[in-house]
Amino acid sequence: KTRINVVFGDGNPNAEVMFIGEGPGQTEDETGKPFVGRAGQLLDKMLAGVGLSRDNIYIANIVKCRPPQNRDPLPAEQEACIEWLRNQVSLIRPKIIVFLGRISAMKLMKPDFKVTKEHGQFFEKNGVLMMGTFHPAALLRSPGNKPDAFEDFRKLRDKISEICENTEIESFEN
Ligand code: URA
Repeated sequence: KTRINVVFGDGNPNAEVMFIGEGPGQTEDETGKPFVGRAGQLLDKMLAGVGLSRDNIYIANIVKCRPPQNRDPLPAEQEACIEWLRNQVSLIRPKIIVFLGRISAMKLMKPDFKVTKEHGQFFEKNGVLMMGTFHPAALLRSPGNKPDAFEDFRKLRDKISEICENTEIESFEN
């Protein structure tokens, strides 16, 4: 009832790597695009830090409309939206899914996922490798976790080099 725009998803429809967040914030609600506010800018920096960009990933959220005051999406709201996301995953057919934050990792990867203990670990589910890491908005509030988050992105880069065929990683060597 309170949304301005539906935030469906964005990025490369042929991506081998998909990122899944929680739900749109204010800037996303205003623009209709996922991860374009401050958290999104930090995500872009972390991607760039390992030679990736939005051009070679697809990004979507569990819920497609901004929860009022950015509260956590309610279980009923997650249920109402989840089929859209499942269909997005079926269409994109990613080799790797990265969950940004506990809420999305618990919903689709591991119901008891603990971000502080299990971030950066790859789990295989239905032939897809999945990994949960810190939500960039949480990193803005707790910057002490940034080195761990960057390490997760380096693990992601190494996994991409190992198993992805069409994802170009920019090299910094030259
Ligand atoms: N946080 C999210 O989880 N998703 C967005 O799109 C923006 C912020």
